[in-house]
Amino acid sequence: MYILGIESSCDETSAAVVEMEAEKCRIASNIVASQIETHRLYGGVVPEIASRAHIEAVTGITHQALDTAGITLSQVGAVAVTAAPGLIGALLVGVNFAKSLAFANHIPLVPVNHIKAHVAAAYLSDPQLKPPFLAVVVSGGHTSLFEVRSYTDFVEIGATRDDAAGEAFDKIGRVIGLPYPGGAAIDKLAYEGDPLAIKLPSPALGGDTLDFSFSGLKTAALNYINTCRQNGTEVPRADLAASYTHAIVEGVAQKTEAALRQTGYKTVVLAGGVAANSHLRARLERVAADCKARLSVPPISLCGDNGAMVAAAGYFAYLAGQRAGTELNASAEDHPAWEQPFVNSFFEKR
Ligand code: KG4
Ligand code: ZN
Repeated sequence: MYILGIESSCDETSAAVVEMEAEKCRIASNIVASQIETHRLYGGVVPEIASRAHIEAVTGITHQALDTAGITLSQVGAVAVTAAPGLIGALLVGVNFAKSLAFANHIPLVPVNHIKAHVAAAYLSDPQLKPPFLAVVVSGGHTSLFEVRSYTDFVEIGATRDDAAGEAFDKIGRVIGLPYPGGAAIDKLAYEGDPLAIKLPSPALGGDTLDFSFSGLKTAALNYINTCRQNGTEVPRADLAASYTHAIVEGVAQKTEAALRQTGYKTVVLAGGVAANSHLRARLERVAADCKARLSVPPISLCGDNGAMVAAAGYFAYLAGQRAGTELNASAEDHPAWEQPFVNSFFEKR
């Protein structure tokens, strides 16, 4: 069956067609319109500008996704849309568009949680992958560990208590003058520096918890930069990039290893925008090998926000019977009212 996936939770408008059957998943199209160049002028995402750019792009992108897939709307079995979490104004554009499209054409509408969609990207690149497994979601807004018990049942066993890994990368990138978003630029620059040059605190919290905190690391890096500037010395950007990356990668690796040992899972999925980080990918390969587990990580093109991952998550939600009514609303929250566990009656009652 063909699923049309629509994504607009942050600064990428995307529409994709994915063909999914029991043992098959094929990306028929995955069109992404990035707003990065626009937001770069401001050093970060400007929510109002993001919403307006989604409105301008979403219709054309959807036509393009259908044309590239070589299908018409009448062949679409379900429309899947990111309905939470994210920037509320941005989400509303995709949700409202998907609702209109689905209900005007009598196509089932499936709401998708963006975090689950990041994990679902792995099904597209790894056909053997099946729950249960451990998922490490590292993105601009999230840093969490999940027990993925089934395609739709996720239990969060660890999470950041403040900033996300991507946010932490972007913040320091901006302060040392790298273009937004800083994550990819720091990834590259880190190869030129010494990861042990600057001692920084780990984002892995001490003790038995699987939680993280990035605020101490961010503050320590900012203090280091300010001290350099006060002393009139140049900030050693490559060493800072390498040391900062080292702290984040080691912190995520430490909690991933602890989670694998605690749960006993033999498969770990790394997902989200920060999963594109080459140092993190290499380090988690080693963690998996040490735990005799298998690492599944989507190609870089599926790590950032895209419609194909939304369609893939939507397919499994569709199979689980999850549907939205016309009252579907966007939610900025990680756990919107209609999820946890998913209740169709939430829509029927309202
Ligand atoms: O998943 P995503 O596209 O959007 C959210 O759902 O938040 O993630 C975007 C984040 C940004 O913070 C960006 O800097 C980060 O992913 N990112 C990276 C890399 N590529 C993108 N962080 C570290 N290394 C990279 N190579
Ligand atoms: Zn994302």
